[in-house]
Amino acid sequence: MRPGLVFSCLFILLFEPSMSIPMPSPFTRFLGHADQCNALLQFASSLGITTNIDSKYFCNIDGANITSYPKTASWRKGIDCCTWDGITCDYVTGEVIVVDLTCSCLHGALQPNSTLFTLSNVRTLYLRGNDLTGDIPSSICRMHSLENLSLADNKLGGLIPTCLGNLSKISYLSLSFNRMQGSLPKSLANCTRLEILSLFSNDITDSFPHWLRTVPLGLLQLGKNNFHGLVGPDPLAFDFPHLYTLVLKINNFAGSLPSNYFLQSNLTDIDFSSNKFEGALPIIPPTFELFSVSSNRFTGEIPLLLCNSTNLASLALSNNSLTGRIPQCLVDGSASLFELDLSMNFFRGPIPETISAPNNCSFTTIDLSQNHLGGKLPRFLENCSKLKTLDLSNNELQDSFPSWLEALPSLYILVLRSNKFHGPVNTGGSPQPFSQLQIFDLSNNNFQGAFPTQYVASFKGMTGGDEKRGNIVDRILDNQIFYTASVIGKGVTLELHKIQKAFFVIDLSCNHFQGKICDAIGDLKLLTGLNFSQNNLTGAIPYSFGNLTNLEWLDLSLNNLSGEIPGSLADLTSLAYLNLSMNWLMGPIPKGKQFNTFKSDSFGGNPGLCGFPLPRECGEDANKLPPSTHAEEEDTEKGSWIEWRAVPMGYGCGTAFGLSAGYIMLHFRRPLWLMRMMERRIYKLQRRARRTRGRNCTRAQRR
Ligand SMILES: *[C@@H]1O[C@H](CO)[C@@H](O)[C@H](O)[C@H]1NC(C)=O
Ligand SMILES: *[C@@H]1O[C@H](CO)[C@@H](O)[C@H](O)[C@H]1NC(C)=O
Ligand SMILES: *[C@@H]1O[C@H](CO)[C@@H](O)[C@H](O)[C@H]1NC(C)=O
Ligand SMILES: *[C@@H]1O[C@H](CO)[C@@H](O)[C@H](O)[C@H]1NC(C)=O
Ligand SMILES: *[C@@H]1O[C@H](CO)[C@@H](O)[C@H](O)[C@H]1NC(C)=O
Ligand SMILES: *[C@@H]1O[C@H](CO)[C@@H](O)[C@H](O)[C@H]1NC(C)=O
Ligand SMILES: *[C@@H]1O[C@H](CO)[C@@H](O)[C@H](O)[C@H]1NC(C)=O
Ligand SMILES: *[C@@H]1O[C@H](CO)[C@@H](O)[C@H](O)[C@H]1NC(C)=O
Ligand SMILES: *[C@@H]1O[C@H](CO)[C@@H](O)[C@H](O)[C@H]1NC(C)=O
Ligand SMILES: *[C@@H]1O[C@H](CO)[C@@H](O)[C@H](O)[C@H]1NC(C)=O
Ligand SMILES: *[C@@H]1O[C@H](CO)[C@@H](O)[C@H](O)[C@H]1NC(C)=O
Ligand SMILES: *[C@@H]1O[C@H](CO)[C@@H](O)[C@H](O)[C@H]1NC(C)=O
Repeated sequence: MRPGLVFSCLFILLFEPSMSIPMPSPFTRFLGHADQCNALLQFASSLGITTNIDSKYFCNIDGANITSYPKTASWRKGIDCCTWDGITCDYVTGEVIVVDLTCSCLHGALQPNSTLFTLSNVRTLYLRGNDLTGDIPSSICRMHSLENLSLADNKLGGLIPTCLGNLSKISYLSLSFNRMQGSLPKSLANCTRLEILSLFSNDITDSFPHWLRTVPLGLLQLGKNNFHGLVGPDPLAFDFPHLYTLVLKINNFAGSLPSNYFLQSNLTDIDFSSNKFEGALPIIPPTFELFSVSSNRFTGEIPLLLCNSTNLASLALSNNSLTGRIPQCLVDGSASLFELDLSMNFFRGPIPETISAPNNCSFTTIDLSQNHLGGKLPRFLENCSKLKTLDLSNNELQDSFPSWLEALPSLYILVLRSNKFHGPVNTGGSPQPFSQLQIFDLSNNNFQGAFPTQYVASFKGMTGGDEKRGNIVDRILDNQIFYTASVIGKGVTLELHKIQKAFFVIDLSCNHFQGKICDAIGDLKLLTGLNFSQNNLTGAIPYSFGNLTNLEWLDLSLNNLSGEIPGSLADLTSLAYLNLSMNWLMGPIPKGKQFNTFKSDSFGGNPGLCGFPLPRECGEDANKLPPSTHAEEEDTEKGSWIEWRAVPMGYGCGTAFGLSAGYIMLHFRRPLWLMRMMERRIYKLQRRARRTRGRNCTRAQRR
């Protein structure tokens, strides 16, 4: 599995179980075999074929990466439809039982009189990832053998047909990624075999469907709709006997959850993030593996009973108003905890040190940013060999540079921004210190001493030389992922949309680094951003900067740099933001396509600089400038990863890269374990379903 797909695959798994081998049907046929083939042909001809599929999940590389092609185009009259692409027949009765037209470029509305709906033996109908418009006709309920129905990822609208409650065999129903409106039809309570109901990203307005309690639902996905009100109605306990995954994220649910609310449930994964829940956190029962309530209004401390949750793998409490200390057990019982996101709260005190399992740590992501944590970094982190992201920014940590983290083999993102770290930044002597690092943000601390040359020379992750290493984040973020993050500029908060490329960033701004910028920096060819602003750097800007062909942001302002601006900088066609102001640079400003776009504030406060765009002319010297080798090239064709133009000029600490690294990792790179977990879930669910149906067995064991 490519890492880039992991996140999306989680969603796919949430929505779409895979197909399996069809079993013989006990039902009598209503249409003869030839009639069924004709019905299919007629259905196909009632829809157009489009080349422009606007699929959000299935038919592009962001999602399931299923290649779209018109399956129906190869259907031929006179050839047995059981051999047609996307069609499966029962091998005993010859009935058409599976119609899988996922990503088949189908365009148009489903007509109420569509011949498709006469295929009453079809058990699996997948029309997901097409360009279907209009309402879902009630006549679809004539397909009363349906067990699996997915119309996800189309442009269907209107109300959810009430008659779906008549599909007595349905076990899997997905209408995710459409434009369904209105409320959930209560008739769904009649679907006594429904196990997965997925309605992510629609426009459904309703309160929590507690009446679905009687349905054997295992997975209920209501994310990204207009659900509101309390989750209930039972004020004391959550009472859905079979439910193990409940996703309510991005709705308007509100109210508080009684502390024992989930204690008797069989839930293992809940995602309630981005709602309006308030009050104290409920107790997280020992069964939970994933608990996400980020971006709500929870207050109070983390309940100590959390320590009983030994299965917990992912805990996300960010962006609430939680207080108190981080419980010791979160790091101690960490044998199973992979992701810990406590950012944007009011946690105080030190980050606890482990006592029980000093050499075992399974964390891959730790985001404790934007709290009031103090003290020193706990040393157990040095044994977190799977750690990929560590974001501790905006706290009050006081420590020297944790060079002991440098041996971590998978650390991609290290953000210590805006703390009270101090002293020199020197290596601890590892052979390959920070060899995978892609984001190194030490900004706004009290680091001092020489510019950390040794580290720069060892950031192999940023050189792009070795294919095998250092570009995991790249591959993940390169898939045109769309999201919003905020950047704190100089008193301005900007929303950034659509970040298309990977970050490779070194930000040392607002410290007391001294000495020269080393030439080796030119080897970090993948760098997209470099911020050394507000230090005490001296010497010249290295000529090797000209090799940083991916550089989009360069800020060397407020230092003591001297000498001329190397002409090689003008070759950096990607450069969208440049700030060299407030230094002691001299001589003519290089000319070249990119340099012609910078304004005078990029160069101000350097008494010795002259030439465009500064008002001071250079005189004869100007003619001696080496011309930029790329002066004739087209404007940057790729487009910038951020609308840099929107970022105002200013002196800030870590301004541009104030994007929370943890945010990126947590939200766009669901780790593999989570995907496997979901896979296991769905597999177990199916097994359970088969068993219960087949032999009236007791429920399959969860673990
Ligand atoms: C429906 O999907 C489930 C889950 O993948 C599968 O077990 C079942 O066999 C499918 N039913 C049919 C009729 O294909
Ligand atoms: C998508 O699938 C195609 C072919 O199946 C493959 O070549 C491509 O690398 C995949 N892209 C991603 C991002 O997985
Ligand atoms: C379905 O109804 C439309 C008009 O609503 C008609 O044009 C079309 O021929 C009908 N199709 C079938 C298969 O009856
Ligand atoms: C289908 O559902 C509707 C409304 O839910 C009901 O009136 C009708 O009797 C049902 N039809 C069948 C065949 O069950
Ligand atoms: C469920 O089905 C029964 C019998 O078929 C019917 O009487 C009842 O109205 C249905 N319930 C809903 C909510 O549609
Ligand atoms: C949890 O599952 C068991 C076994 O299926 C069931 O008896 C029990 O009622 C469920 N608990 C809740 C609160 O639904
Ligand atoms: C934090 O939560 C608030 C609502 O409680 C939301 O408006 C805001 O966007 C969230 N911020 C982040 C960075 O998620
Ligand atoms: C939590 O764990 C402790 C000790 O393992 C146990 O005594 C206690 O009953 C547990 N509490 C709950 C609510 O599970
Ligand atoms: C260390 O963690 C692994 C799982 O990551 C677990 O299997 C193992 O038992 C743990 N060892 C100790 C000593 O806790
Ligand atoms: C890290 O693990 C080693 C053994 O692998 C152990 O000796 C050491 O004490 C651990 N360090 C910390 C700080 O827990
Ligand atoms: C910059 O370095 C010089 C000596 O090299 C020192 O005198 C001065 O205090 C430093 N300034 C800052 C702001 O650190
Ligand atoms: C870029 O790197 C190459 C060697 O990798 C070197 O020969 C060349 O001079 C460098 N260019 C600049 C502008 O530093």
